[in-house]
Amino acid sequence: MDTALPAAADPALGEVVVSRDEIAQRVANLGAEITADYEGRAPLLVGVLKGAFVFMADLSRAIDLPVECDFMAVSSYGAATKTSGVVRIVKDLDLDLTDRHVIVVEDIIDSGLTLQYLRRNLLARGPASLEVCALLLREGQQKGGELGLRYVGFSIPPEFVIGYGLDVGERYRNLPEVRVFRGTP
Ligand code: IMP
Ligand code: MG
Repeated sequence: MDTALPAAADPALGEVVVSRDEIAQRVANLGAEITADYEGRAPLLVGVLKGAFVFMADLSRAIDLPVECDFMAVSSYGAATKTSGVVRIVKDLDLDLTDRHVIVVEDIIDSGLTLQYLRRNLLARGPASLEVCALLLREGQQKGGELGLRYVGFSIPPEFVIGYGLDVGERYRNLPEVRVFRGTP
């Protein structure tokens, strides 16, 4: 880490793609939708670390049901900004998915490779249902295959973004909005 500039003075921070207010609105709507769709059930939210931790915290509080939360960590990028296509489980779930109504909570779907791998892996554990809620979907980058994206916050243009959980080399996760990354990774 070579710099410690406040956000306003950091030249790596590009345009705001999704503002704090837009996120808050959309998360409230997604929460209401999930609350209605899962009425009478107790969904299990599976957050994909680390990127989804901020979204998961807000989304879980926008759902008016007895939700349970678990996390898993997968690695596909390392420190670079291009997908390798290789997905590895770094931390597995603590809970058993058998007969559970599972909602995978993701920060962003880019190539979709991470999600395809996760879907296959989690479906093999015998959940009653499996849906996906992604905050961001990068338009036009998916390589095909069944993604099963039931809930999407925002479709965004094909630029690398940071903030609201998304990082470059572990930085910028704490920005309250989503911005284009203009620096060198
Ligand atoms: P995919 O496998 O190509 O869909 O990549 C998905 C994962 O890559 C996400 O869960 C993120 O962790 C990471 N990722 C993809 N695009 C971005 C981005 O624009 N900013 C930060 N992380 C990203
Ligand atoms: Mg991720």
